[in-house]
Amino acid sequence: MSFRTIEWTGEKLILIDQTKLPVEETYIAYTDYREVAVAIKTMVVRGAPAIGVTAAFGVVLAAKELLALEAMKTGGDFAAGLEVAFATLAATRPTAVNLFWAIKRMRGVVEANEGSSPTEIYKALERESRIVYDEDVAANRAMGRFGAGIISGDECTILTHCNAGALATAGYGTALGVIRACVEAGKKVVVFADETRPLLQGARLTAWELHTDGIDVTLICDNMAGALMRQRKIDAVVVGADRIAANGDAANKIGTYPLSLVAREHGVPFYVAAPLSTIDFELSDGSAIPIEERDAVEVTHPGGVAGAPEGIKVWNPAFDVTPAGNIAAIITERGVARAPYGAALAALRAK
Ligand code: MRU
Repeated sequence: MSFRTIEWTGEKLILIDQTKLPVEETYIAYTDYREVAVAIKTMVVRGAPAIGVTAAFGVVLAAKELLALEAMKTGGDFAAGLEVAFATLAATRPTAVNLFWAIKRMRGVVEANEGSSPTEIYKALERESRIVYDEDVAANRAMGRFGAGIISGDECTILTHCNAGALATAGYGTALGVIRACVEAGKKVVVFADETRPLLQGARLTAWELHTDGIDVTLICDNMAGALMRQRKIDAVVVGADRIAANGDAANKIGTYPLSLVAREHGVPFYVAAPLSTIDFELSDGSAIPIEERDAVEVTHPGGVAGAPEGIKVWNPAFDVTPAGNIAAIITERGVARAPYGAALAALRAK
């Protein structure tokens, strides 16, 4: 891969600006965690694992800022200062559970180091954020290997939705990690990428990523996937997830659920690739997954140009929930879960 989605220099957090892709490949350097929160909210960085990793580095920037305060040298409350940063970062996007998972993990480091000096806590947080980053890349590579193992045949045509690639993670990708691993295993892979209205993550990001990597990719509008499957041109659908409930119901980019229905109708296996950090074991099913609703302008102004009557009413949920019953397998870094997912996911967690 020729780009880095997230880079920590030890001083700054550098993010590729995903709002500018594919027209411009630009990078923004962050030293203020509040700006990192804005980057998550405005989708400079997006994709569940990438949001989690970014938040972890945001916490490190907050700790760095606190450390420089005069008050910290005279007994100021470092942990209380960090709580403000946790709350700011948590208030950005509600659906991807990786965000809350990462914040909880960073809070755990603070708690485990209670009584240590602010400098010691800062060092522990910085160490942890690097581990969160490395673990994400390793998880994606492991998911890729497991996923490639269940995609049958030496030749396969895979449909994907949104962007669950290197841009949505610390590197390699979840769904696109499975595709990359298939290619690395010597399979001849053809990919169809849904454009993914309204923000076009499929057209702008997935098509860019795969095309840049030399992987055979064809872009389609979202409403073309059904016709493709009816013509038996798709061997498998592979998507990522933003939050998976304990029973396997999976929230992912809006439009994933109808894709799962068409796949079921045509007997096409529908796979979800996601790390364990995306599984919310506290939710028994998908009905309680909070679904983010975004600004109407994303729908009314495609590409920033008015495409609907002024003042029109708009509904713009960013995600939908695919019921576990439509999912042939959930691919994680610890192995492949199949229905019944409650038991299978719990077993992978305990592994
Ligand atoms: O709104 P986004 O672009 O953050 O949504 C991203 C998705 O829905 C991805 O498919 C999901 O986060 C999985 S990423 C590995």
